[in-house]
This record gives sequence, structure tokens and C-alpha cells, in this order.
Amino acid sequence: MPATVIVGLQWGDEGKGKTTDFLAEQVAMVVRYQGGDNAGHTVVAGTETFKLQLCPSGVLYPHITSVIGNGVVVNPATLIAELEMLAARGIDVSKVRVSRSAHVIMPYHVALDRANEGRLGGARVGTTGRGIGPTYGDRAWRLGLRMEDLLDREVLRERIARALPDKNLLLEAMGAPGFTVDELVDQAAAWGERLAQHFDDSTWLVQDALRRGDHVLLEGAQGTLLDLDHGSYPFVTSSNPVAGGACTGGGIGPLQVDEVIGVMKAYSTRVGSGPFPTELFDDVGRGIAERGHEFGTVTGRPRRVGWFDTVPLRYAVAVNSNSAIVLNKLDILSGIKTIRLCVAYEIDGKRVETWPSSGSALSRATPIYEDFEGWEQPIHDVRSLGDLPEAARRYVAALEEHAGVPIVFVSVGPERTQTIERAWRPMRHRPTMPA
Ligand code: GDP
Ligand code: IMO
Ligand code: MG
Repeated sequence: MPATVIVGLQWGDEGKGKTTDFLAEQVAMVVRYQGGDNAGHTVVAGTETFKLQLCPSGVLYPHITSVIGNGVVVNPATLIAELEMLAARGIDVSKVRVSRSAHVIMPYHVALDRANEGRLGGARVGTTGRGIGPTYGDRAWRLGLRMEDLLDREVLRERIARALPDKNLLLEAMGAPGFTVDELVDQAAAWGERLAQHFDDSTWLVQDALRRGDHVLLEGAQGTLLDLDHGSYPFVTSSNPVAGGACTGGGIGPLQVDEVIGVMKAYSTRVGSGPFPTELFDDVGRGIAERGHEFGTVTGRPRRVGWFDTVPLRYAVAVNSNSAIVLNKLDILSGIKTIRLCVAYEIDGKRVETWPSSGSALSRATPIYEDFEGWEQPIHDVRSLGDLPEAARRYVAALEEHAGVPIVFVSVGPERTQTIERAWRPMRHRPTMPA
């Protein structure tokens, strides 16, 4: 039965939270497969707005099993606060499962992330300061702590004592205070006690669900252009948001994925540093930022805003093997006289239509635009594609043509119901595996 991956096609904040929540109504399980509390996913249900950092965006439905997969890095303090926030707002969190193998973001990871960004000065990545890079770094270096380690003080003491001396040396060299083993063991053990009831073997949870024939959604955080391998390194995050990451971080094999839904918005935004060829510095950009409330969910930083760029779109659709696309925030473009769509770059005097893997080539790229007539009227209340202004339909059709993949939903507002659904046949279905 179907496993559907939801993946951001741009630099994050494409509206994955809204899309996941929208689709979650029809599924049994939603799994976050990478990233950590650098993510901020917004779900608007009626008059209620939820900002989720670690729990998958299906958590608002009581029937959903919400899984934080092995590929996620978990700051237990953030998770506890989020579970408490949800419970206080009447959401049942008893079905939130956390992989025992997910790595733990320790206080020294957060401190190192922030101190390192300070030291980089103008060359900083502009991270969310959540300790993401140092935690994934320790995971690769085999110095990390996993969630299950929180349950055993002896293991905690041994692993923290092994990792901490180097961390303290680095922190001291960067002028930041260090930590003691004792305080960290106490803190971590308390987290373990609080979260133990949520721990599980997430891989078998997901595998059993698929074997039962349940529909599983795998929710990506960040986006393809922030992918550690596929984004503009080093201005990327430290995990693999691309669809392949759903396999390693969610505990499924590539042949278990039936559908890969790409989520994008009708223009571009980026938080943090790094090349952004279509970035706008004028009133049009400021207007989009204002109408689209383009401020980081996690850090509150203003997001950089630009025109939609089809060059990385084609790349993203290729590396994710997207079978369908969701287009969000079309409503934000109402009232713009001329909408520009980047169709290629000029780099060193040559027209380039493929996303350059070289960061330096990208930083020399000048966008080549195709202009589209805009539309005046608000479209929040439109519920069928045919009722959109003709100019909006032409713009959507152009995006779809560049993607080469059907746009199955068009979103015209943050609320669940502000969604245009098109007839949609999932690309392929596999026969159910024998039990
Ligand atoms: P995510 O990180 O991909 O889940 O996206 P964020 O939640 O960080 O940012 C998307 C923002 O746009 C949120 O505030 C959403 O409520 C909002 N949003 C999503 N879809 C739409 C839409 O179609 N129109 C408008 N106006 N807002 C939207
Ligand atoms: P969601 O899931 C937008 C960006 C940071 C920075 C870079 C590295 O809400 O789309 P990190 O803290 O991960 O080491 O920062 O990645 N970034 C995001 N930008 N949306 C996100 O998540 C992001 N998560 C990280 O701004 O440029
Ligand atoms: Mg976000």
C-alpha cells in the first residue's frame, strides 16, 4: 500500500506543513524523516494556527500515528515543549512515536552551532542556531547520542564523557562557556524519563503499517535546495531533505515509495545566506514578503524573497523523481502587474538552463526572465482551477510545463479549505506485499 513522500522543492517554507496536514486526513501515519527543530511547519485549521518543529504535521488528527523517524535530530527540550503545547491545546499526543535511533541535539551542539556562526562572521551560513550541523556531524563521527541512550545513566555518562572534552576545548577557544558531564547526564536522564513513553522502533512501525496496507506519508523538512548533497554547499542544512532521505531517515526502501509529491510556492524565498539568483530588492519583493508574511517560523528572521526560478525546479523534480506537485501561495501574487518567471541563467555570457552544481557558477548567474501578465483580484475564495483569473491559469500552466509533472493542488490561502483540488490519479501503485 502507498507510501507518499512530501518534499520541499525550493529553499524550505514552501508550505509543507499545510500540504501534509491536508493529505493527512486520508492516511494512517505521518513520519518526519530528517532535520530537527530548524523546521517550522505551519498548519492553520479554522481559527487555530499551529507551528510545529518536530511532530509531523498530521499530529492534529486523532487517528494519525505521528512518527519522528531515525533520520531526525531531536532536541528533547523542544520536543517536550511541543508535546505540552499540543496537549494544552487539546491535541491527543499519545500516538506520537519517537525513534530510539534518532540522534539527540545536546546543549553543546547548540552552543557550538552559535559560536561557530559568530566566528564565521560575514561567511556564516545563517543557520537557525539549533545545533543541527554539530549533531549530524557527531552522528557521522560516531560520537553522537541516540534517544535510547537517554534511558540509561551509565551509557549517558560514558558517551557524554567521551564527547565532551573536545567540545569544551572548542567552545573555550571560541569564547563560549563549556559544560560539565554531571549536569548533562542529569539533564539528559530527565529528558529520557519524560519521553520514554513515546520511544519506539520507528522502522518496524512504518514497515508494519505498510504491510497492513495503511497509507503512510513521509514529511520532509527544509527543501531540495538546502540538501546537504544537492543544495548550494556550504549554504545548506546538514541532512537530506530530498526524497531519497525519506528512505534512509524513515526506514523504508526505494521500491516502497509510490508517490513523491513536491511542494513549492508561487515565488521563491530563502532564509540565511547563499546564492539566490532571482532575489528581489525592490517594492515588489517587499510587497510579496509583507502579504506572504515571509518571516522565519523558527527564528523570526525576514525571509529573502524573489521570483520563481524554474532552473532549480527542473533539478529538484529530477533528483526527487516527483510524481506530482502542490503549488502554494498563489494568492500572494494577486495585484502584481507583471509576474516574472526565471527560465534560464546567463553565466559568463552563456545561456544555461540546467542548475549548476558549482556554487561559484551559481553566484555569477543572472536570471533570464519570461514575463507574465498579472491579475488584480484576490483569489482566496476560488475552489476550482477554471474559476481562477485567466492570467493566473496561464502562470500555473507555465510552472507545470517547466516542472513536467502535474500540479495536483493549488493553494490560495493558509487555511485547510483554501485549496483547489484537481483530478488526481497517483502515478503508480504497487500490489500489496504478501504478509
Ligand atoms: P513549511 O516550512 O514548508 O511548512 O512552510 P511554513 O509553515 O514555514 O511557511 C509557509 C507559510 O505560508 C505558513 O505561514 C502557512 O500558513 C502559509 N501558507 C501556506 N499555504 C499558503 C497559501 O496558499 N496562501 C497563503 N497566503 N499562505 C499560505
Ligand atoms: P522548514 O522545514 C527554511 C536554513 C537556515 C540556513 C540553513 C542551515 O520550515 O522548511 P541549519 O539550522 O539547518 O543548520 O541552517 O538552512 N533552514 C531553513 N530555511 N526553512 C527551513 O525549514 C529551514 N531549516 C533550515 O536558514 O540557511
Ligand atoms: Mg518553515
